[in-house]
Amino acid sequence: MNHRSVYLETFGCQMNELDSELVKGQLESLGYRLVDRDAGADVVLYNTCSVREQAENKAWSRIGVISNRKRAGEEIILGVLGCMAERDGHDLLRRHPEVDLMCGPGELDRLPLLLDNISRARGSELNHRSQIDERVALGGNRSRRWSTLQAAGDNLELLDLSRAFNPDPGARAAGRSAYVRITRGCNKFCTYCVVPHTRGAEVHRPPGDIVEECRTLADRGVIEITLLGQTVNHYCYTHGVAVSVSGRELAQVGPGLKSFEEGNLSSRPGARTTSFAELLELIHERVPEIRRLRFVTSYPRDFSDEALDVIARCERICPYLHVPAQSGSDRILKLMNRGYSLGQYLEFIDRAQARIPDVSIAGDVIVGFPTETEEDFEDTIRLLRRVPFKNNFIFKYSERPGTVARRRFEDDVPIAVKKQRNNRLLAVQAEVSAEVHARWVGRTTEVLVEQVSKQERSRGKRHSRAQALPGQVTLTSGGAALEPQPGAGEGVGAEEPGASIQLSGRTPGDLIVFLDCPRSHQPERLIGTIQKVHIEDSSALSLSGTLI
Ligand code: 5AD
Ligand code: SF4
Repeated sequence: MNHRSVYLETFGCQMNELDSELVKGQLESLGYRLVDRDAGADVVLYNTCSVREQAENKAWSRIGVISNRKRAGEEIILGVLGCMAERDGHDLLRRHPEVDLMCGPGELDRLPLLLDNISRARGSELNHRSQIDERVALGGNRSRRWSTLQAAGDNLELLDLSRAFNPDPGARAAGRSAYVRITRGCNKFCTYCVVPHTRGAEVHRPPGDIVEECRTLADRGVIEITLLGQTVNHYCYTHGVAVSVSGRELAQVGPGLKSFEEGNLSSRPGARTTSFAELLELIHERVPEIRRLRFVTSYPRDFSDEALDVIARCERICPYLHVPAQSGSDRILKLMNRGYSLGQYLEFIDRAQARIPDVSIAGDVIVGFPTETEEDFEDTIRLLRRVPFKNNFIFKYSERPGTVARRRFEDDVPIAVKKQRNNRLLAVQAEVSAEVHARWVGRTTEVLVEQVSKQERSRGKRHSRAQALPGQVTLTSGGAALEPQPGAGEGVGAEEPGASIQLSGRTPGDLIVFLDCPRSHQPERLIGTIQKVHIEDSSALSLSGTLI
């Protein structure tokens, strides 16, 4: 049995958070001990993100720190997982000899083997070349593993399913909220984006596997599932095409934009398919214990009316759409290869609002894409004023290696202009968010209570530093839910009690809600439950209300 300690830090998106969660589960089941600090860990792993330069820079600086410690004589196994490993390939190893292993996002099932190889290679006489081969698991090109996906045993798929097979649920199962991947990779090739190059072609998981995973999570007490995919609503599984020798359905390569537009998949003669709408309904019906079913990230072009109607019809599917527009200028959208015009995006928004009552819409926007003029940018401002986005993640364009935009366009918008546009958009979005939140004042809504609010926790920390109170409440990984420690609550009211504790949670539309709960109601017991809350106040960022 292995007893080595592993520290794993995650950068970037929810897809990476899920990958890290699965890797941790896999390593734990092999006897590794997960620790929450790099100090003293035998193995330090960074699960990296290449989508934006900023996330990469952060990871580089972490790698630098550990490399220095290794050079100073500390015995640490240093591994780089995820998109940076995939993108930089063997070059990264040559430039940073302290890195012991690299593993692309499509090869994470091979991580334990790599760790094992390193232990064996240390102290052996392996030559440099074979050492590198034994330290690297990368897809190697953007078609990644899809040829091997058809093979009888797809271990990457097994990694996703590992939560279903793992007899020991582990600490994270204590959470009430979990991610489930439904597609990997992306076929869209937006010109600025590195994802198709690092995560490879779009692969769709069999609906049976997805439902099985949701069922297992529900059996462990999970009540909120977020389905993940780069273009999640593009999901479509054709049955009978990829089947193992034992008859089990396998993950399959998804359709390109073209075949989707032409409706080829659903109309393929004789083929039985499961569409995104059908998948949502299937999970909703088969796993009713899941009280909230969410999905991110959606692609504006791919929303069928059926999918919108299923969301409207099924009470446990959240009316929340994260559909990045990226820009409000048709010229820029074209250069980005987004595949839709502003008019088409707005048509979709109108359709979603007409079909889904109280639909909540979020997005992403890039400012400073090459050649973006003041007029283009003003088109984006108009878009933000036209659509009631609850929030927009706003990014300054950065050139990503290997992308078409980098090859074709000069990064010609000065950084000062990017920053200024970023700030202007943030200000507009703050006004829009304030309006969206204000519409909820006076209404009653359901809130999934997630945690003692940050403000309350820092107040609690100050108390505990002063008084060393027992009964702290701690977060599970990813901040998804709070679990009271044994004895939680006892003594919390011992000093400067205050009449209530502030909790925070989210509405079905993903709006953050703060609520004060009287201490006498044992607030910690509400965490992980859904409560009716009367909304009394709002700001640009959140709502506040009282339990009813
Ligand atoms: N520069 C800036 N932002 C980017 N994004 C993706 N690639 C880039 C890039 N090269 C943003 C997009 C995407 C989000 C995940 O990251 O808005 O939706
Ligand atoms: Fe990147 Fe575009 Fe795919 Fe989103 S849809 S992951 S932005 S290529």
